[in-house]
Order: sequence, then C-alpha cells, then structure tokens
Amino acid sequence: MNFFTEYIDEMKSKGLYRQNQVYQPISASHVAIDGREYLMLASNNYLGLTHNDKVKAAAIEAIERYGTGAGGARLTTGTHPLYEALERDIAVFKGTEAAVAFNTGYMANLGIISAVMGKEDVIFSDELNHASIIDGGRLSGATRVIFPHSDMAKLEELIKNTPCKGKRMIVVDGVFSMDGDIAPLDKIVKIAKEYQAMIMVDDAHATGVLGRGRGTAAHFGVEDEVTIQMGTLSKALGAEGAYVAGKKELIDFLINKARSYIFSTALAPATIAAAHAALKEVMNSSALVERLAENGQFMRDELMKYGVNVNQAETPIIPIIVGSAQKATSIANTLNEQGIILSAIRPPTVPVGESRLRLTVSAAHDKKELAKAAKKIAKALQDEGME
Ligand SMILES: Cc1ncc(COP(=O)(O)O)c(C=O)c1O
Repeated sequence: MNFFTEYIDEMKSKGLYRQNQVYQPISASHVAIDGREYLMLASNNYLGLTHNDKVKAAAIEAIERYGTGAGGARLTTGTHPLYEALERDIAVFKGTEAAVAFNTGYMANLGIISAVMGKEDVIFSDELNHASIIDGGRLSGATRVIFPHSDMAKLEELIKNTPCKGKRMIVVDGVFSMDGDIAPLDKIVKIAKEYQAMIMVDDAHATGVLGRGRGTAAHFGVEDEVTIQMGTLSKALGAEGAYVAGKKELIDFLINKARSYIFSTALAPATIAAAHAALKEVMNSSALVERLAENGQFMRDELMKYGVNVNQAETPIIPIIVGSAQKATSIANTLNEQGIILSAIRPPTVPVGESRLRLTVSAAHDKKELAKAAKKIAKALQDEGME
C-alpha cells in the first residue's frame, strides 16, 4: 500500500495533489457549495446550453420515449434513430459528406489516431496538444514528432527531414485548451499540401466557438483541406460525446476500425437528443456564438484595465500564467473564498513553471458579474506579488 500513499504524499508536497470537489450546478454560470453561490469561471459550457430549455426538454423526452441506457455497442445492439439524425446534422453543420459520434472526445482521439496511423507512419503533433491526442499517437505505434507550439518553420523543417515510409499526419488542437490560442490552420494547410500530409484538427474548444460555431477549419475557410475534423459534444454543446466529420470513406473506415467506437456501449438516448437539440440551437442562430465572443473580449478588456496580462485570442479561454503550482493554487483558493471558481492548472497538464489560472467565459455570463470578478482577480494577483 505504500506505493499509493507515497505517490499521494509526493503530489501533496509539490502542490500537485488533486481532489474532487462537489459543486452543485444551479444555472449555466453558477454553482452552489454548501448552500453558498459561486460564479463559475472554470467550465467549458461555453454557450450555456446545459441549461437551455429546448435542450433539457429534448433529453427528458428521449428518456420518456426510449428509456435511460443504450444497452450495448452500436454495431451489436443497433444504432439508435437519434444517432442518425444527429450525425446527419453534424455533417450538414460542418459541410462534410458524413459524420459519426463517439462516446467522448478522449475516446474519439484514441480511436481515430490509432485506427488511421500505424508503424510505418509519422505523426507531427503540436507540443501543446491535448493528452488524448498524445495517447492516441502512442497507441498507434506510429513515429511521433513533436513540434514547438505553433512554430510553422520548425514544423516544416521536421516534416522535410523526417523519413517516412507510410502516411504523414499533422495533428493540432484547433483551440488550445490551456492557452486559448488558435492553431494557424491556414499555414498548416500549405505545409501539409507540400509534403502530402493529412490534417487532423481537434475542435473540442472550437465547436460552437469559432467559424460561426463550425470550428477552426471554417474560421480559416479551409474545410476542404482538413481530412479529419474532430470535435466534442460535451463542451459548447452542453451534452457529452464527440464527433468526427469528413468524407464518407473516412467515417466508414472509423466505424470498422476504431476500437473505442466498436467496443464501447453507445451514448444514452438522452445524451444524443440533448447534443442534437444543442446543435440545432447553434445551427439556427448565431446569437449565442456572438454573445460568447463579446463576453470573451469584455473579460479581457476588464482584466487589462487592471494591468493583468492576458492573451488576445478570439476564444473564451483566458490563461493567466503565475509560475509555480503553489502560487496558482493559493490565488485560486483566495478567489474561491470570494465566490469565484476558476482553475489552477498545474503540471502535468502544463509544463513546470507555467502553472496558471485558467478562466473561461460563457455566453451565459452577465457582464456586470464578469466586471466584478475581473476586479477581484486583479486584486488577488497583486496580493500575491503578481502584476
Ligand atoms: C482539446 C481536447 N480534446 C479532447 C478532449 C476530451 O474530450 P472529452 O472531455 O469529451 O473526453 C478535451 C477535453 O476534455 C480537450 O480539451
């Protein structure tokens, strides 16, 4: 048993210990802990759709009509008609021939990359890509070449100089989850064309956010150049699960080869119905996506008013780098006492010395509350000797 406690003690001594905290969601922007209300600035519920009346009604209706669970994997127990409708609309939304849903983004990345890439192949992966992309690459057995974050000159140099007998893939987060910046997909397309590499983009944080909600490829107008567009149903779409959109042959291939798709019970009907209702909200009106962008800029402007250094991406993710894990935890705790929840992001999620506060803005946030929170965040940073 020492093995377990030694690890935990080490994590505690480094300020890296993690613990589940019980938060009771009370709206799309607030949670309660022990009866006290907190402003939530740590959620990926970017459009506030978790609490949208139509989305909730769709989930409730699906339970009433179809029960609670899928009962088995899609290829053995049968594909639910709700899936068909969802996948058809994802393809319409993304402007692709077809789409297929996975149970989570993590499973999608694991399944896609390990199915598409193999021993003879080379994956070129941004150093800040999500853990699920890293793990998918490991599982694939392909050679993995990590390029410095969004460094296109280095990417090109590495592609040029890395021998490859099989396929090449360049894979990036569309919006980087811990930094909130956007992958330069337009430039990646040029490099990919020159070296016959396929592109995979993970739109977990770009779906419902960039390109009128359609993702990073739409943001840059390069939809036809990206072979694999993956995204999640769990963040801006307020449900659970993931999708892959692309050509019919890609989708057919994944259904036949992606092990995380084949060997796992399908999503529950309520989840599929909620994701579809949320998608329709984004397809039918750009209002929420626009409000999200407005709130993101508003929060950045407020923080900058107090001299806080923030990124300037058109995304809802605002990292504030503080350095040590202890400092990040201490500032997050101080803000917590003042009724604000934001994340202290520490190694191994980010490199040592780059611990940060990560705050995320939602379309559901009220500007007055964001302004008050910005003032408190700036004060907490100052009190810790940060500017
Ligand atoms: C970039 C990125 N990809 C994939 C995932 C995994 O998605 P899911 O939470 O649906 O498993 C996440 C976050 O969780 C993410 O940030």
